[in-house]
Amino acid sequence: MPLVTISDAGVPIQGPTATLIYDDWYPALRSDNLRKGKLATAMLLGIPLVLGRRSDGRVFALRDSCPHRGNPLSVGWFDGERVTCRYHGWEFEPCSGQCALIPSLTSQDKLDATRIYATAFPCEERDGHAWVYVPGPGSGRKSAELPRKVPELKKFGPRYRTAFLTADLPCNVDHGIIGLMDPAHGPFVHQAWWWRSRASIREKTKRFEPIPEGFRMSAHAPSGNSAPYKLLGVYGQPVETTIDFVLPNRRTETIRCGDKWFSSLTTVTPVTASTCRIDVVGAWNVFYHVPFVTPIAKFFGARFVRQDQITMIQQAEGLKHNPSLMLIDDADKPAKWYFALKQARLEAGSQVSEARPGAPKLKHPMDGPVELHWRS
Ligand code: FES
Ligand SMILES: [Fe+2]
Repeated sequence: MPLVTISDAGVPIQGPTATLIYDDWYPALRSDNLRKGKLATAMLLGIPLVLGRRSDGRVFALRDSCPHRGNPLSVGWFDGERVTCRYHGWEFEPCSGQCALIPSLTSQDKLDATRIYATAFPCEERDGHAWVYVPGPGSGRKSAELPRKVPELKKFGPRYRTAFLTADLPCNVDHGIIGLMDPAHGPFVHQAWWWRSRASIREKTKRFEPIPEGFRMSAHAPSGNSAPYKLLGVYGQPVETTIDFVLPNRRTETIRCGDKWFSSLTTVTPVTASTCRIDVVGAWNVFYHVPFVTPIAKFFGARFVRQDQITMIQQAEGLKHNPSLMLIDDADKPAKWYFALKQARLEAGSQVSEARPGAPKLKHPMDGPVELHWRS
């Protein structure tokens, strides 16, 4: 899958922290970084991870810390079957974390190495992401039975093109998420001749409805003032778009125009309590046969994400000194719903599950569909 990385060359800024949601899936890194026999590192929710791919193709994620004396396992060896710690050579089966060998043990020893485990996290490959399930601190080893399914980008047919974008954001996950769903910054942050101008601001009414653990901007004809949507007009069919936000961090957008479609999954993942990363995976069959569509889409997508990134670097400067902030109606209403949903999820703990039938459902801040009005 083509890859664009928008690196944040700025000095890391230590801003306010956010409370983190555990017991869910987060993308750790692109799975094409996991080559056989190699180890890769990533940080999720402040947890250092070492990831890799076994010889049979299965991906794994371990805490990057040997249970013996804490040496990072990522500096050790990996032969496609076992990860060996560089300090005293303990060997681990990386999917389960089970210790397979302690070289220093003799025939005199009673210690059963196989009762020792490195911390292994459930890890699955989907849409080119290596997704890692991060349980709450101290909740023990995770069985195969998890309360949540691995997120997946919606596709509406077998033939499509894909692209991926990522950018580090120097702010906490809450600011990353509310910036992502914020409708009012578009005309200011994303001004461009090919997208829209400040002069194109107009009053909008959008209908929202509650969905499990999130909300949906109901299917609607997209804003007439954005060029990419206008392009779809060439197909001469009604264009309809649906945007969902679902906890802990996922925004999905689907645009459909007859049998043509575009679909994206954007996640804002806490790297630490005060920093995050935005990842966008997109798939489409629109203009499937037009040459250069993928590089062009990546170019504009990267510009777009870069504009958000620059804004958040500037915002991080302002947030350093912990100013008091505000959320206004209606433009910041989605942000208010996000905070209310997050609070409900934190209060409910790991008991709530949308995947497990009969499990308690989250208390929802919306009691039905509503219309919001703003100018953008
Ligand atoms: S620290 Fe890893 S084997 Fe001792
Ligand atoms: Fe934006």
